[in-house]
Amino acid sequence: MDRIFRIAIDGPSGAGKSTIAKAIAAKLNIDYIDTGAMYRALGYKMLQLGISEDQEDAVARLLEETEIDFSKGDIILDGQIINNMIRTPEISMKASACSALGIVRKHLVKVQQEMGARKSVIMDGRDIGTDVFPDAEYKFFITATPEERANRRYKELIAKGENVTYEDTLKSIIERDYNDSHRAVSPLRKADDAEEVDTTEMTVDQVIDYICSKIDV
Ligand code: DC
Repeated sequence: MDRIFRIAIDGPSGAGKSTIAKAIAAKLNIDYIDTGAMYRALGYKMLQLGISEDQEDAVARLLEETEIDFSKGDIILDGQIINNMIRTPEISMKASACSALGIVRKHLVKVQQEMGARKSVIMDGRDIGTDVFPDAEYKFFITATPEERANRRYKELIAKGENVTYEDTLKSIIERDYNDSHRAVSPLRKADDAEEVDTTEMTVDQVIDYICSKIDV
């Protein structure tokens, strides 16, 4: 049987984690799990149902009644493909807010650990190398300056027809960086044994090749 290994990709918003992780998954023929999409899916459902972060009982019930899964690259919420619905600035902020709740993190971390228990996976997020798979065989912490990340995210949103400005995109990146790295539960931080890759001056292909050169399969 092939060796099972896990690749943890963490870092701040807009550093290119998902593009990179998806490409590496295809190259290595392993599953890609986008944990940010899971927080987004939950945030999306909370918005739909009008549930706020301080309604602890409602959030607890929601977690019990919610199924989040991946199939053929799609994110599935309660049986429905929601890929396009969860990439808006509004959902970004809601995902950041609900990901600060201990009860939410505990639940989703468990689901993520189960997803990577029996097969090789590459998983991206904020706490993969620290909390989800602290014993992952490979850990990378992908960064870029806030301005470069805002620039990339802005271009992405404009290409999708969103009505945003660069200034607002940068403001949102800075706000989410602050939220994600200052929350009480599992704040964003580099695992001590993760390798930091600053992608500010790198192309996507350079980052993919660099990471693949570190993985021996
Ligand atoms: O990677 P992303 O932008 O799709 O993530 C959405 C939000 O979810 C982001 O604000 C941080 C949070 N998140 C998290 O706290 N832990 C993860 N493992 C993944 C995402």
